[in-house]
Amino acid sequence: MAQGEIIAGFLAPHPPHLVYAENPPQNEPRSQGGWEPLRWAYERARASLDAMKLDVLLVHSPHWITSVGHHFLGVRQLSGKSVDPIFPNLFRYQFELDVDVELAEACCEEGRKAGLVTKMMRNPNFRVDYGTITTLHMIRPQWDIPVVGISANNSPYYLTTREGLGEMDLLGRATRRAIEKSGRRAVLLASNTLSHWHFHEEPAIPEDMSKEHPQTMAGYQWDMRMIELMRKGRMQEVFKLLPQFIEEAFAEVKSGAFTWMHAAMSYPEIAAELYGYGTVIGTGNAVMEWNLRKAQLSLLDGAAASSSSHRLDSLVD
Ligand SMILES: [Fe+2]
Repeated sequence: MAQGEIIAGFLAPHPPHLVYAENPPQNEPRSQGGWEPLRWAYERARASLDAMKLDVLLVHSPHWITSVGHHFLGVRQLSGKSVDPIFPNLFRYQFELDVDVELAEACCEEGRKAGLVTKMMRNPNFRVDYGTITTLHMIRPQWDIPVVGISANNSPYYLTTREGLGEMDLLGRATRRAIEKSGRRAVLLASNTLSHWHFHEEPAIPEDMSKEHPQTMAGYQWDMRMIELMRKGRMQEVFKLLPQFIEEAFAEVKSGAFTWMHAAMSYPEIAAELYGYGTVIGTGNAVMEWNLRKAQLSLLDGAAASSSSHRLDSLVD
């Protein structure tokens, strides 16, 4: 079997407002648009993804919460209606997706071998969470690429941030090993917002952009500081600052997807492409790509991976 490859990783946030604003046939509520700069950012990300010829999209979502262990979608085809419990007025989405069960099982097994509690989700009537769906819809609205969906154990919320992100580091490395053995050409999606201070009241018209702005100046400044480092490829600094960013900007990267993705990619010190930034109910959202293939780091070779990688412990101290 050919060697597996992680082609790229995307920071791909999931405010359901973006799907609402797109008015796709799958979503019941209708809108007058809104949040265009972020939606255009996703358009550019889609064009990049389109050129990749990939086999599978792996997504880690903070809104599929599993208190015991890390779970993986394990049913070949899933369909149903997904409703955002916070914004049911914006997101009632009829989903239909194909799961790469073989790769999901391999990720589950590699995670178990790494000492994590892992489990396959086999309920055929499972309602996929809005985080997974929004990220997948925005990056690939055709829904024609199989997916591996990974839950958020939310260990950083139960343990210390450092211990929790340490688990995500293990999960990322396990994901990498599974992809390597599978022969798949994979793209990783970290479904995370950056600063996460948000408004507590919705405008009468949710898409009234005269009401949209960063919730706090500090959150905005943190986002710009982190994005600037990512644009320059200074990822070691990003990971050093991550605990402080999480603490001071209430950043959603705490839930682990961002760390999982970078661990799977062996923490490449490469510049990210920023497709766009925008706020949604005051939270900071960036659509960004780290393209390993362009940086000639995509082929999963054990020696290259270990020499170019940094353990999370050395980054977060
Ligand atoms: Fe979220």
